[in-house]
Formats: sequence, structure tokens, C-alpha cells
Amino acid sequence: MGCSAWHPAGFRYETYYQDVWVRGEAIIKGGRECELRFWAIYEALKETKKPLKVLDIGANMGYFSLRLSEKLPGTYVMIEGQESTAQALLKVCKLNNNPSIVLFKRKLCLQDLKDLRAVEKFDVVMALSIVHHFEEPYQKVFETLMTLGHKLVFEPPIAEEHTLNQERIVNEPLDLSRVKKKLLIKVPTGSRYAGNMLRPTYLIDCISDASYATVQGVSQGTFRLMNGVYPPL
Ligand SMILES: C[S@@+](CC[C@H](N)C(=O)[O-])C[C@H]1O[C@@H](n2cnc3c(N)ncnc32)[C@H](O)[C@@H]1O
Repeated sequence: MGCSAWHPAGFRYETYYQDVWVRGEAIIKGGRECELRFWAIYEALKETKKPLKVLDIGANMGYFSLRLSEKLPGTYVMIEGQESTAQALLKVCKLNNNPSIVLFKRKLCLQDLKDLRAVEKFDVVMALSIVHHFEEPYQKVFETLMTLGHKLVFEPPIAEEHTLNQERIVNEPLDLSRVKKKLLIKVPTGSRYAGNMLRPTYLIDCISDASYATVQGVSQGTFRLMNGVYPPL
């Protein structure tokens, strides 16, 4: 580990999609732009009067949940499904020691989203560059995401971008025409991944029912159901 390819905290440089965020600073730069997206999302959520309950699907290194939770109180439930990324994220959680953070290590399928909807309610669902990772029809996944919380922060895959499931992205274009959405920002997808192609981040109004009330924390039942790994029970 004494090698210069490694950060002293045990993270390999030039490895991660997102910046690695530890207690107020990015200790490693990721391949994907994070900072501008963070500020756009923060600006959209900052007027919230009460603690937020946020679901971060495909959290990667937890950058958005960790950073948002330092500014906006609440419960931030991160889900990461890729084994080595989830292991690295668990390490990031321990280093941050942030009581707002919950981590589920789980490769989600559409049914998992429905199971989660049956047991937890969210103020904000973040689904950034994740829909095209699902095996089920993208439109169904998107529509289910819209039933999980009051608002959805959503970043669709871009057809021109040569990324995972490129063919499906082209053949299964998402129809967002009927949703009420606000463009928060458009930023390049990132140098190592897709050059300077711009990808939009939207804020979408979902559940407007005032009786849909969120509760802070997650139940032990949900934690077990979704393979919770942080905080330790
Ligand atoms: C393209 S990255 C996007 C990361 C982050 N949302 C962002 O925009 O910065 C997708 C992330 O989702 C994770 N992932 C992919 N499929 C998943 C699934 N079915 N369930 C949970 N996580 C998944 C990947 O391991 C990766 O960390």
C-alpha cells in the first residue's frame, strides 16, 4: 500500500466513477463530474423545511448522499449493487462516521423497488445514471421510481453516449414527455467515460399527496430485507 497509486486512506487513485468524499472534502477525484451536479441538486432541495428522507439508487461512492447530508439534515439511504464498489463505499461510510447515512448492498431489480415502496416512503429519490443498469424495461423502472417519493432527481442515459447497454438505450428511449420536470443542470458526462457529451439532471414532481408522510430512519425490517450493511446493527 506504500505505492503512489494508493491514497493513504486505502483507495486506489483513478479507479472510481465519483469523487471519494470524506468529512467535508474530496480525497480522490473520480472519473465523472460530481461538483457541479451536487450544487445544482443542493440548490433544488435547500429550501426544504424539515429533515429529508433521501434514497440514492446506484450510490457509487456515496458522494451525493454524503455531501448533501452535511448541509441538509435527514436520513440518506444509499443502495449500491456492485460488490467491489459496495465494499469501497462501506469503507467510505466508516471513514465519514455520519449518523445520517444508511447503506444497503444490493443489486436492485424492479421487484426490489416495489418491495421497498411497500415498506418505506421518501421525500427525494436520486436515480442518477442508473436506469440503464436495470434488466427490466427502462420505462417500467422509471415509472416505478416515480412512485417511491415526493420528488425524483433523475439523470437519463444518453443515446449518443457509448455506455453500458448502448443498444437498449437506443431501442428503448424513455418517454419523459408526460412528467412535470425541471432541468437542474446539463454537464459533460466525464472525461474518462464519454468525453464532453452533455447529460441532463432533472427534478421531477412525483407524489404530491400531502398525506404521504415520511419518517426518519429505516426500520430494522427494511434494513434486513434490503441487505443493510451500514450502520452496523
Ligand atoms: C453509472 S454509475 C452512477 C453513479 C451515481 N448515481 C452518479 O450518477 O454519480 C451506476 C452505479 O450504480 C451501481 N449499480 C448498477 N446497477 C445497480 C443495481 N441494479 N442496483 C444497485 N446499484 C447498481 C453501479 O455499481 C454504479 O455504482
